[in-house]
Parts: sequence; C-alpha cells; structure tokens
Amino acid sequence: MKRIFSGVQPTGNLHLGNYLGAIRNWVGLQESFDCIYCIVDLHAITQSQNPAHLREQTRSVTAAFIASGIDAERSIIFNQSAVPAHCELAWALACHTPLGWLNRMTQFKEKAGKDRESAVLGLYAYPVLMAADILLYKASHVPVGEDQKQHLELSRDIAGAFNRTYGVDYFPLPEPQILGVATRVMSLRDGERKMSKSDASDYSRINLTDDADTIALKIRKARTDPNPLPDTPTDCQERPEALNLLGIYAALADVKLADACERFSGAQFSAFKQTLADLAVSVLGPITAEMKRLAADPGYVDGVLRTGAERAAAIANRNLRDIKNIIGLLHPG
Ligand code: TYM
Repeated sequence: MKRIFSGVQPTGNLHLGNYLGAIRNWVGLQESFDCIYCIVDLHAITQSQNPAHLREQTRSVTAAFIASGIDAERSIIFNQSAVPAHCELAWALACHTPLGWLNRMTQFKEKAGKDRESAVLGLYAYPVLMAADILLYKASHVPVGEDQKQHLELSRDIAGAFNRTYGVDYFPLPEPQILGVATRVMSLRDGERKMSKSDASDYSRINLTDDADTIALKIRKARTDPNPLPDTPTDCQERPEALNLLGIYAALADVKLADACERFSGAQFSAFKQTLADLAVSVLGPITAEMKRLAADPGYVDGVLRTGAERAAAIANRNLRDIKNIIGLLHPG
C-alpha cells in the first residue's frame, strides 16, 4: 500500500486553515493509504517555545487529529521527538543538501525577518528535517496546504540527490497532495495574508477551540468589500476577502467554488455571513466538543502517542539501518 506522511507543528491553536488545508483531507486518505500523521515538535522549537505550553499543545494537536476523524488504530499518530531516527536522518540528508537550495526557501526568509544573522541554525535547516520526516518512512504522498509546496519540492530534490549519489533507487520522490477548494485559507482581517497561528490578531483566524459565539462573532467581523456577493469565481479576482469567505463556505459545504458563488450571487455579506457562521459551527462544533473531552483525558492521549511512536519507530529504525548501509556507516554486530 502507498504511504502518506504529514505533520503539524504544535506551536499554537490549530485553525480553520490547518483543518481545511490539511487535517480534513487526511481523514479520507486513510481509506486508501497507509497513513502516518505526526506532531512535529522538533520543528516547533526552531522558534522560541514555552516548555509547558509546548507539551500542552502537543496533546491538543493530537486531540485535534483524533477529534477530526484520524483513527489512531488504523493510522499512526505520534510526536516527532519520540522517534530519534528523524534527527539522525536529518543529519545524513543535510550532508547531501547544497546551501544554495536552502537559500531559496521563502519560509526561512519570512520567519528570519530582517535580522538574518540572529536566526538560529535549526530554522535554516528546518526543510531538511521535514525531508527526513517524509523520507524516513519512504512516503509516496504528502497531503499539505499550498504554503508547504516549496518545502516538498526540496524534499524531492534531496531524495533525488541521495539516490543519484549512491546509484540507488531507494527513496521514492514524494508527491505533494494539495487537495480541495481551501488549499490556502486567508486571514479574516486581510484577504491578502494567509490565516496563521502567529498572526497577532485572534480575529484573523477561527481556532478549532473557538466556541459557537466566538466563531459567529469572528465571521461577522470579517473584513469584506461594500459590494454584493459576486456571481462567479472570475468576478472574485479583485475581491480577495469575498473569494476567501466563499472558498471557506465551499470547503465546509463540500461544494465547488462556482456553486457557492451561484448560491449567494448578489446577496449582501450580512446574510451570507450568518449562513457561513451556522455552517462553520455545525462542522467545527463536534470537533471542538471532542477535543474538550480528550483534553480532560491526557492519559488516553499520551497512550495514543506512545503506541504511535512505537509503531513509527519500528518502520523508521528498519529504514534508517538500510540508509546507513547505503551510506557506508558501520553497524557493528
Ligand atoms: P504547519 O504546522 O504550519 O501547518 C500544518 C498544515 O496546515 C496547512 N496550513 C494551511 N492550509 C491552508 N490554509 C492555511 N492558511 C494554512 N496554514 C497552514 C499547512 O500547509 C500544513 O499542511 N512544515 C510543516 C509541518 C511539517 C510537515 C512535515 C508537513 C513538518 N514535517 C512533513 C508534511 C510533511 C508546517 O509547518 O506545517
């Protein structure tokens, strides 16, 4: 069976972008793939984290996976730092990654900001660790939102470089799977910026932990333009906020963007927002409730992570042994 690997950083509350761009798609993929879903805590520490908060967020993201419909028995759910092979492979791959490739990564440029000299090595090496996550399991498909596309292209380049260096066909080149209508959900405050955990304004995003009133309030306050809703997706071109809200509606209702436009063509935003809020609450409400229930049972969540790490390590350690053999690293005995 073909294998899926994907991950989420436990850096803050998961939001609607994480859900629609990634996690929701992961649920359906369990039918036809062998799936590994990871809480990438080692990626989280490329930026400063409060230790207690990091632990709590790792459990909360695990709960979000389960509450969204990831089946912990069928799929593997684990946190990255519990399987040390990720770091070992990251080092080996770092030795096959030219600096020029890393210098092109736009996420590093965004996150490092102007003061590049103070950025930490881990942030720069981040995409190599991400390649290690995927290649360690020889994953063939990686479902992500659009913002991860460049990192995935790098993972393919690194896999190719490794195969060529040793004259092997060991790593499959992982295929990005950028699925659905909402591959890039934008901020509710600014249709030109991505919805993000790190945005200073909580009104910019809908968190999976928000209650019904908060969701409705955030949607009501979402920025729009003064015109009635557009007739077609083409009419949204100069209207990023309209496009974003209609895209969110289409994704939540599981319809095409064109159908969403047709449904609300010529309507006022106030009426549309009410319908959108009701829909968002009906989809997210059960997930939030289940996350709350799981938050009260950290023993269960830790058990899922423990079992997941054992299952992940069994695959990872076997592959790492093969990889070390290919490189010529000795395994005495
Ligand atoms: P992270 O934690 O930033 O995001 C997790 C997933 O959510 C998607 N996403 C979005 N999709 C649509 N609209 C948005 N506004 C939005 N914001 C986030 C992301 O594309 C991602 O799929 N580097 C990764 C984590 C990672 C990983 C991996 C992913 C580490 N190793 C291996 C895949 C395979 C990240 O920071 O995701």
